[in-house]
Amino acid sequence: KTVHPFYGTHQAGITTEVQQHLYFASLDLTDSTTRDDLIELLKAWTDASARLTHGQQVTAEGAVGGGPLKPPDDTGEALGLGPAALTITFGFGPSLFTGELGKRLSIADRKPDALADLPLFAFDILEDELSGGDLCIQACAEDPQVAVHAIRNLTRLAFGKAMIRWAQLGYGKTSATSKKQATPRNLFGFKDGTANIMANETADLEAWVWTDADSQPAWFAGGTYLVVRKILMTIESWDRAQLGEQEQIIGRDKFEGAPLSGGEEFTDPDFGAVEADGAFAIPADSHVRLAHPDNNGGVRILRRGFNFVEGNNNLGQLTAGLFFIAFQKDPQQFIDVQRSLKSDALNEYIRHVGSAVFAVPPGVREGGYIGQGLFE
Ligand code: HEM
Repeated sequence: KTVHPFYGTHQAGITTEVQQHLYFASLDLTDSTTRDDLIELLKAWTDASARLTHGQQVTAEGAVGGGPLKPPDDTGEALGLGPAALTITFGFGPSLFTGELGKRLSIADRKPDALADLPLFAFDILEDELSGGDLCIQACAEDPQVAVHAIRNLTRLAFGKAMIRWAQLGYGKTSATSKKQATPRNLFGFKDGTANIMANETADLEAWVWTDADSQPAWFAGGTYLVVRKILMTIESWDRAQLGEQEQIIGRDKFEGAPLSGGEEFTDPDFGAVEADGAFAIPADSHVRLAHPDNNGGVRILRRGFNFVEGNNNLGQLTAGLFFIAFQKDPQQFIDVQRSLKSDALNEYIRHVGSAVFAVPPGVREGGYIGQGLFE
């Protein structure tokens, strides 16, 4: 029965204890959508989100209260399922502010400074239809139907103004944002999220996640940048790799999740530790070594990704992977870490096929609407 209120200083769904399920949608505005249309949509989304996160229907009339002579306001499939810890998080893509659209909406000069499409990284094989978008909605919940219901009903409110460009269903969190949560596992069978920024690390959240008064423009203070990467994992090849090799690739042991330099899951890795043969205990090309702050000028990011499986291909192989989501004060943090991962031994087993970046505005107080500062 957990409720995460929609209203607050920051948007929910970022430091919120990671829920088990995700439905993520990227939307494009239609060619005729005006500034007033967008404001109206954000107001409608705010009211609806405040209701949905309390386990209520999208409007007071809901699924059956509007009488038999019109389509119901609410699609009904979440009736009786309760709030299910639902969070709804909104973001604005670079394309909202640039080009013809930015001019039509009169917001070209309000773009958050660091909001720009990500550069192309080594090994990227990005597909346009899995990338980008003017707006995003991240719905996370303990019940997948509650997350899908939220996106479905918010999309209905956008009818004629914005439509889905791509969407992703994710099950099984691959990160924790609290040590109260057992660290979940990704589809390679390893604990994922051990060294994540946790919700109680307030100094690190200020340093690495929330934009502050120095971040420009001023309306964006208290926000953050969301980077999303759809990463396919070649599961069958991985499953044929020896356990020892798998552990060398990650840099942690599979059962405990302890660093290969020794200790337990939450023991700090010792990157100087060497084996009898003189090689580093945590190999030079291991994922954890390359992604660690020590290798990235101290940079940290808040990871909040989910597993996905989309059936099998005609060779019988799983179409599956990690829907990677990270929040950071500046997308450059993700860029720095991802560039370091160029020599990652993991690259043999993964392919990035989708990519997007969004500016996540600060939270909203009751009476206001999401992203309001952008229009003032
Ligand atoms: C750590 C898996 C992609 C950044 C880890 C860990 C695992 C893992 C098992 C160790 C446990 C932990 O601390 O969370 C994967 C897999 C990926 C993937 C299977 C792709 C399918 C990425 C990407 C980035 C990233 C794209 C960012 C560009 C990190 C960071 C850490 C980490 C920052 C923590 C390192 C530390 O401080 O020790 N990952 N990861 N990972 N990963 Fe990934």
